[in-house]
Amino acid sequence: MIGINNWPSPYQTIGGTGDFLKTARVEKPIYIPMTRRVAVAPRLDWTDRHCRYLLRLISRHARLYTEMVTTGAILQGDRDRHLSFHDSEHPVALQLGGSEPRALAECARIGTDYGYDEINLNVGCPSDRVQSGRFGACLMAEPALVGDCIAAMRAAVGIPVTVKTRIGIDDMDSYEELQRFVETVSANGCEVFVIHARKAYLQGLNPKENRTIPPLNYEYAWRLKRDFPLLEIIVNGGITSLDEVAEQLQHADGAMLGRAAYHDPWLLADVDGRFFSDHHAIPTRGEVVRQMLPYIEMELKRGTQLKHITRHMLGLFQGQPGARQWRRHLSEQAYRSAAGTDVVLAALHKVESAGNINNGNCHAGHG
Ligand SMILES: Cc1cc2nc3c(=O)[nH]c(=O)nc-3n(C[C@H](O)[C@H](O)[C@H](O)COP(=O)(O)O)c2cc1C
Repeated sequence: MIGINNWPSPYQTIGGTGDFLKTARVEKPIYIPMTRRVAVAPRLDWTDRHCRYLLRLISRHARLYTEMVTTGAILQGDRDRHLSFHDSEHPVALQLGGSEPRALAECARIGTDYGYDEINLNVGCPSDRVQSGRFGACLMAEPALVGDCIAAMRAAVGIPVTVKTRIGIDDMDSYEELQRFVETVSANGCEVFVIHARKAYLQGLNPKENRTIPPLNYEYAWRLKRDFPLLEIIVNGGITSLDEVAEQLQHADGAMLGRAAYHDPWLLADVDGRFFSDHHAIPTRGEVVRQMLPYIEMELKRGTQLKHITRHMLGLFQGQPGARQWRRHLSEQAYRSAAGTDVVLAALHKVESAGNINNGNCHAGHG
């Protein structure tokens, strides 16, 4: 059972009915930072800097993750394109894909120079392309190598080095195997594990099927928290509401939202007040759109096309009157090569005309 301290303490205390846990293994109070209580999952081709800028306008505290960036892309590719981000995005973690300790250490160092708050290693992606590079989920079969990668990155940087992993792969799906993996990797300096609570089939299922067919098994993640109380355990997979986040926080240190937040970013609107005790005024959806405009102007001047930003905004009015008109206008108009902020304002006008104007309670209903 996890007690939840009130803001402004940046820590929560883990304990039974008392303030702290007393077991044979742990005799002192355990302090886990609150910084990852709610996070948005990394998603290739989605959680780019435009997406993260938008999400940060909705929640100041939810931890954001980049898309996975491979070591090759950083070391041989257009580094700025992959790594640059806006100051407002903090706290933001860089997710790396790779399995070569020296290359990962170098990329972690570069990521730190760019100002990231955390380096996260992907041990969960099951795609063929990733497997052929010998990284992602197939690394679960090589805990010693993952440990070497973590140790090398830890030696190179002063910020947290974390892992996002599945609960198993193929036939390697017992709790004991997961426990051994976590034991080995944590012994090398990883103190934070994001657990996507599904196993992955490396053969026979594509990545999309691997996110739906293997059943969710939160108990493995919760058990890790009980067995490794000093580690920070963040649960991911199938979490679709803030009530479900609250439920996860009864068993683990944080919850990471994936598809639910991509499709319906307004899900994050209550996160600061509910989970970080920061009760600032929540902007309306319309205000968030207007706050995006200077950013969009700046990006257009840099040569970014409008559609690359607005695609993340399509779900902003999800479930609200006028949502369809909003989506349709942006989808049809933002793709023109000269499209500018007038397209966004016209789309907003359509939503507001549909009776959805600046209702401060628009975020309600996600509880
Ligand atoms: C299209 C797509 C791309 C993804 N790309 C990544 C990625 O780059 N790195 C990663 O660790 N997970 C990636 N994931 C997995 C998500 O981070 C998350 O673990 C998964 O969607 C389960 O969470 P959910 O059920 O809340 O969506 C991706 C998921 C989707 C849908």
